[in-house]
Amino acid sequence: MPEQVWSEVDDYFTENLLPTDDVMRATLETNVAENLPPIAVTPPQGKLLNLLARACGAKRILEIGTLGAYSTIWLARALKPGGHLITLEIDLHHAEVARRNLAHAGMSDRVEVRVGRAADLLDAMQGVVEPFDFVFIDADKASYDTYYELALALLRPGGLVVIDNTLWGGAVARPADSADTRALQALNAKVHRDNRVDMVLLPFSDGVTLARKR
Ligand SMILES: C[S@@+](CC[C@H](N)C(=O)[O-])C[C@H]1O[C@@H](n2cnc3c(N)ncnc32)[C@H](O)[C@@H]1O
Repeated sequence: MPEQVWSEVDDYFTENLLPTDDVMRATLETNVAENLPPIAVTPPQGKLLNLLARACGAKRILEIGTLGAYSTIWLARALKPGGHLITLEIDLHHAEVARRNLAHAGMSDRVEVRVGRAADLLDAMQGVVEPFDFVFIDADKASYDTYYELALALLRPGGLVVIDNTLWGGAVARPADSADTRALQALNAKVHRDNRVDMVLLPFSDGVTLARKR
């Protein structure tokens, strides 16, 4: 499906199939006002993340790639009572905006924004934190394989890894034109063959991979 059609379909969902939400609207407005790039998940994707996290009964959620915490808020709203979400972000300004948006959304008590290289932060968590029920990967594409491996190690059996942008505007279906495309093609092939998980790649927005740890 051409990218323009994806974006039209997302707009259709957003305008017709999602309730209006002042907190989410304010979060996106703050991101624009603070010059964050317009690369947050779309509202339908946010709703999907929320539903999937609820379906897992998630009490512990890990997110890689915070930006202004738009997806974080969708996920934090799905946490079971007493639940906790850790989100990882390399950019200090993004993290500051995220903390402000989380405070406005009333989520500061259950969300922790950790600042640094996600690979380093994930390494530091190995063997130290309790297992997660749900992991969302949405950061630099070249590191997706590293994030997938480190996230799987931190996930409980039966937990879900969700990976964004796995169709990369359809580029994964063509001969690779960039390092990011190659990284995503390699990851898709690997997850497809990975007997540690059951997976499906949803042709939704820019491609969303679901991998449930066996
Ligand atoms: C696509 S955006 C995340 C969007 C966010 N999940 C949402 O939907 O609202 C990717 C984020 O990952 C961050 N990022 C990029 N490389 C990173 C790295 N090596 N470690 C941690 N964060 C990184 C970027 O600064 C950016 O804020």
